[in-house]
Amino acid sequence: MTKVTLIIKNISELITVEGKNEARSGKAQGEIEKIHDGLVLVCDDKILYAGSTKGAPEYEAAENCEVIDATGKTVTPGLIDSHTHLVHGGSREDELDMKLNGVTYLEILERGGGIMSTLTKTKKMSEDELFEQAKKSVERLISYGVTTIEAKSGYGIDDFDTEMKQLKVADRLGEELPVDIVKTFMAAHAIPAKYKQNQGEFIDIVINDYLPKIEAYGKCKFCDVFCEKGVFNAEESKRLLMAAREHGLIPKIHADEIEEIGGTTTAKEVEAISAEHLIKCSEKGVMELKEGGVIANLLPGTSFNMGDGIFAPARLMIEKEVPIAISTDYNPGSCPTENIQLCMYLACLNMKMTPAEVLVAVTINGAAAVDEADIKGSLSKGKLADIAIFDAPNFNYVVYHFGINHTDKVIKNGKVVYSK
Ligand code: NIG
Ligand code: FE
Repeated sequence: MTKVTLIIKNISELITVEGKNEARSGKAQGEIEKIHDGLVLVCDDKILYAGSTKGAPEYEAAENCEVIDATGKTVTPGLIDSHTHLVHGGSREDELDMKLNGVTYLEILERGGGIMSTLTKTKKMSEDELFEQAKKSVERLISYGVTTIEAKSGYGIDDFDTEMKQLKVADRLGEELPVDIVKTFMAAHAIPAKYKQNQGEFIDIVINDYLPKIEAYGKCKFCDVFCEKGVFNAEESKRLLMAAREHGLIPKIHADEIEEIGGTTTAKEVEAISAEHLIKCSEKGVMELKEGGVIANLLPGTSFNMGDGIFAPARLMIEKEVPIAISTDYNPGSCPTENIQLCMYLACLNMKMTPAEVLVAVTINGAAAVDEADIKGSLSKGKLADIAIFDAPNFNYVVYHFGINHTDKVIKNGKVVYSK
C-alpha cells in the first residue's frame, strides 16, 4: 500500500482545478468543482489523491507523516505568479508625488526616471544585496500562497553584466528558498540612452550578442519585450522575438499596456505563449490573441496603480475564448506589491471576472503561461504537491474579504514552507 507523507483532512472547500493540463478559456475558465469534506494525500513531493474523503483510496501513513486538519479552511493548488520583475535594486516611492501631480508613467520614463532610475540602482548593488532585497519579496509572495514565480531581467538593458546579475540572483533565490523561479530574459525593457536615435541598433545587439550568451547560459525559458509607444515598436519586437525562438527561448510580450501599437499582432505572428497587460487591447487585438493561441496575462494591480481606472477587457476575452492568467507584475514602478490576493480581488471587481475564473487564472492558466501545466496548476494525481491552504471557509471568501492575507499554510513539493 502507498505510504503517504502528508495528509490534509476535513477540508471545508477543496478546489483541485483538475481537468485538461492546458490553459482554459471561455466557459471552461470558470468551471471548477468545489468539494466539501475534502482530503488531500501527498506522497513525497507529488499528489497521490485530492478529492472527497469518501472517495479516497486506501492508504497508510508513513513514519513522520504530517497531518493537517483543514476544518473551516479552503485548499487550492499553489498560486502561480506568472509575471514579475522580481529582482531589482531599490524602490521608487519618490515618484509618487510626481504621479499625483499628473506626470504619467511614460513621462517619468522620458525624464530619465522610472525604469531608468531602477537601472542605476540595480547596477550599483551587488549580487548579495540584490538577493537580500528580492528574498524579502519572495517570502512575501510565498506568504500570499505563491509556489512558482516568473522573474524577468530588464534592469540592465545594454549593460549585459547587470542583466546576468539579475538572472543569477533569480537562480539563487530558487535554490535557497522553497519556491520555483522561472526566468525570462528582458533586456529590451527600455531604450538605452546611447541608442535613443537608433534603437534598431540596440535590438541588433540583443539579437546578435546577448541571445547567444543567454542560450549558452541555458537557464532562461522565455524572452520578453516592452512593446509600447516610446519604447519598442511592433516590428522591432517581432524581430527580437523571432530571433529569441531560434535561440530556444519562448516569446512573451508586454503589449497594449499604455497604448495599442500592434503588440497583439506581433504576439500572434511569433506565436507568443502569452501577451502581458493588454489594458488597451481592442476587439481586433483580442481576436489576434485567439487566432495565435496566446494566453492573456492580465495584471490588474498595475491598472489599479496607474490610477486611471482602465482595466483589460477580460469579459470580452472570455467571450472570445482567450485564456486569461492573472499575475502581480510585482516591480518597483507600475506595481509595487507582492499581494496576489489583492490582484485577484481587483480582477473580480474591476474586470468582472468571477472568483472561479480568477482561481483558474492563478493556477492552471498561470502554469500554462510558464509552460508548466503538465506538472503544476491543479491538484491532480502525479503533479507536484504545491498547495495553498486559506483560513477561509470557501474560496469566494478569499476574494471577497479584500486587502488582507488569508493564507494559513503553503506547501511546496510536499513540504510545509509557510505557516501563519
Ligand atoms: O510591466 N512595462 C514595463 N515593465 C513593467 C514596469 C517596470 C518598472 O516600471 O520598473 C510593467 O509595468
Ligand atoms: Fe511587467
